[in-house]
Amino acid sequence: MREQLLAAEKVTAIAWREGALHLLDQRLLPFTQTWLAYDSAAAVAEAIRLMVVRGAPAIGIAAAYAVVLAVRARVTAGGDWRAALEEDFRLLSESRPTAVNLFWALNCMRERLQRLKAGDDPLRVMEQEAVGIHASDREANLTMAQLGMEVIRQQQGNSQPVMTHCNAGALATGGFGTALGVIRAAYLEGLVEHVYADETRPWLQGSRLTAWELACDGVPVSLNADSAAAHLMKTKGITWVIVGADRIAANGDVANKIGTYQLAVNAMHHGVRFMVVAPSSTIDMSLESGDEIPIEERDGGELLELAGQRIAADVQALNPVFDVTPADLIDYLVTEKGVVERPDAAKMAQLMCRKRLH
Ligand code: MRU
Repeated sequence: MREQLLAAEKVTAIAWREGALHLLDQRLLPFTQTWLAYDSAAAVAEAIRLMVVRGAPAIGIAAAYAVVLAVRARVTAGGDWRAALEEDFRLLSESRPTAVNLFWALNCMRERLQRLKAGDDPLRVMEQEAVGIHASDREANLTMAQLGMEVIRQQQGNSQPVMTHCNAGALATGGFGTALGVIRAAYLEGLVEHVYADETRPWLQGSRLTAWELACDGVPVSLNADSAAAHLMKTKGITWVIVGADRIAANGDVANKIGTYQLAVNAMHHGVRFMVVAPSSTIDMSLESGDEIPIEERDGGELLELAGQRIAADVQALNPVFDVTPADLIDYLVTEKGVVERPDAAKMAQLMCRKRLH
């Protein structure tokens, strides 16, 4: 399965080449594949804020590389470069609030910095750390793809339609994707016949990114309005909703793209199983429940305008871009450390004590 997935890999969004971070500009997809090169932490922080790069793991990976760029600039400038670096950590940590992978990756980089020994080349060591974070996210996704696919195989023997929301694919991660990784693996095993992709208003990650990614891979996919989800669950024989996550609290509550919560409620009503796929870097054991997860509110213009054209009456718009799905609506949480059925605080604590499965 690992080899099949590796052979099928077509889309990537993040590359570290010749000392610069290269990001596929996700604002321009699916029409144009434009790669932008970044050589400063401030520019990467802005790219995260503007969603050139988006998706929880991808944001974390981009931030890790941004720290490498910052170390290079601060060391070159001389003086107390470690103290100066704090400004870069601050800028990066303020770029987006909900996905904990950003803070997780910054923490990993900070800890590595603290472990530097006399004689170490800070740039080389920090570069190795960022490359390691990137590679290990890719590996985690390969592991989760296999684990999630096995869960689906245990529940059904034939090919069935599934639904996904937002984009939890290669574009959102270090490679392959979390939810889309499972969907890809299940498709290769003949367990998924069709993917219903919610368009994911207002930023349209579903129509612009997920539909494009799956079409590139030759996975049968159609697009639907977010509000069509319950109707499709009732009429199309959908067996699974499979989504990613931006932050998972210690009790198993899951923050993900706005609209995920209503999908989980609808899935329970229609007897559709609900699977969340996320690496352990998305789990925030410092938060007791999802109520404590900061929910990003973005500019109302994302709702009031489409492609720069006003499409709404002259009113204000509320634009929370994430919501929290309570743990008791989740059937399976798939991580690289293993699968948790019906997550709760005790099972989450047990999971976090486990080693990675790869
Ligand atoms: O606002 P975005 O596009 O960064 O939101 C992304 C999501 O909500 C994804 O579902 C989540 O990050 C999981 S990505 C593997």
